[in-house]
Amino acid sequence: MILTVATTPIADQKPGTSGLRKKVQVFQQAHYLANFVQATFDALESKTGQTLVLGGDGRYFNREAIQIVLKMAAAAGFARVLVGQGGILSTPAASNLIRQNKAMGGIVLSASHNPGGPDGDFGIKYNVGNGGPAPEKVTDAIFANTKTIRRYFIADAPDVNLDAVGTSDLAGLKVEVLNPVAAYEALMRQLFDFDAIKALFAGGFTIRFDAMSAVTGPYAKAILEGALGARQGSVVHGQPLPDFGGHHPDPNLVHCADLYALAMSPEAPDLCAASDGDGDRNLIIGRGQFVTPSDSLAILAANAHLAPGYKAGITGIARSMPTSAAADRVAHKRGINIFETPTGWKYFGNLLDANLVTLCGEESAGTGSNHVREKDGLWAVLLWLNILAVRKQSVQQIVAAHWAEFGRNYYTRHDYEEVASAPAHELIDRLRDNLANLKGRKFGMQEIAEADDFAYHDTVDGSISRHQGIRLLFKDGARIVFRLSGTGTSGATLRLYLERYDAKNFGLDAQIAVADLIAIAEEVAMIRHYTSRDQPSVIT
Ligand code: G1P
Ligand code: ZN
Repeated sequence: MILTVATTPIADQKPGTSGLRKKVQVFQQAHYLANFVQATFDALESKTGQTLVLGGDGRYFNREAIQIVLKMAAAAGFARVLVGQGGILSTPAASNLIRQNKAMGGIVLSASHNPGGPDGDFGIKYNVGNGGPAPEKVTDAIFANTKTIRRYFIADAPDVNLDAVGTSDLAGLKVEVLNPVAAYEALMRQLFDFDAIKALFAGGFTIRFDAMSAVTGPYAKAILEGALGARQGSVVHGQPLPDFGGHHPDPNLVHCADLYALAMSPEAPDLCAASDGDGDRNLIIGRGQFVTPSDSLAILAANAHLAPGYKAGITGIARSMPTSAAADRVAHKRGINIFETPTGWKYFGNLLDANLVTLCGEESAGTGSNHVREKDGLWAVLLWLNILAVRKQSVQQIVAAHWAEFGRNYYTRHDYEEVASAPAHELIDRLRDNLANLKGRKFGMQEIAEADDFAYHDTVDGSISRHQGIRLLFKDGARIVFRLSGTGTSGATLRLYLERYDAKNFGLDAQIAVADLIAIAEEVAMIRHYTSRDQPSVIT
């Protein structure tokens, strides 16, 4: 039986950079999740006969949320839902299932790299038929629906057993619980030379993969240790836990400090890697060599042809605006396309669908390709492994060779997390109002050549996305970018991105290389004043 439940709009259900993300307690409020799910379903065309993919990163509230979505999908008229066993699907695996099964779309339950547990964060995101995050016109329609909603529909049925693989009926909806890893592993086998990587491990190559007690554990164990023969125990924190073991499942140098220390120690394995809560981010550290995500994108692009899935070469690269221009140098030299898009994976979808680009990346540890429509943490690790297996060099040697050929884009990001929202917006507004005065300003040897608020013109669908970050572009190619995070759940987070190119000197510490830019950023933006902070909370 289908119930019609009366409800009223709940304030502030606006999806951000990656869906709706709030504290778990917010999601636990009566009707909160159901309102958003109905607003999503109401934004879609006919669901009759359609397939939906459903899964999450296993965080606290995942199972409850899956049951609600299943019952609402039955009420909405979907014919079939594919759900990962235990409610688990990594974000890239969900993207793959949507594509492979020609699903109408999918619902991914995750707050990515944000902490989990009863006091942590939860999130929900709708992906469309190409497997990628819903474009703005869909998320705008969802948000509009949340403001007028008066009822939702839900099947009055018992919970589905999520732990057993198999098919069952839920009020006329066919629910298929499937192994979350199988289809993803098959896709990886198509893209990469598993035999070459197997031989690499058989030859003594060592890896440590930190799954951060999040969703990639089962994937990494099956693929790295199972299929590729990495030593048992290579995958650590491989069991997904609802609170991620109390850790912040964000694979950066702050939250993977132990992994970094290991990589810099005499006992370092050949490769250290990690992924985040929902499996779409990656961290790559060779023995004695951290690879910034921006450099990683450039290096993967320059070497992708060494993997079978990309042997014909890549059509182009897309990077988010704040990501360093290291990839641009590869694109220019190889004569392939390069696109600069706003922050957020959804902007890559059209470029990938139109085959204008093959690889995409963001400075925030996101790298991916046309194999799915999300960034993909384990994919990045496997592409690195394939390149290492073919080149028979260390990560350090590959990075050094890359800089020698293309030069180095020194790069760092400074985050001021959870600062007061109003002054953070004032900081940005003030810069925006002053763009004309900033242009041409000199600071010692540096001069601002261009100052703008980044706007992106999507050449595929003609849409324009404005206010994507304040850019100060210097005469010598250096860059400062200011933007506010769209994924935080309390207060505001200011992100400051700093970049300087050097064609010859590669040995500097990144913070020292951009020290003059840090001072300029403070001078023009009065960061200390507006954030009431003396220093950033995270430097990556
Ligand atoms: C952050 C990253 C961005 C990424 C997003 C989702 O968004 O900066 O690159 O796409 O998480 O993983 P932000 O908080 O900056 O809006
Ligand atoms: Zn993520």
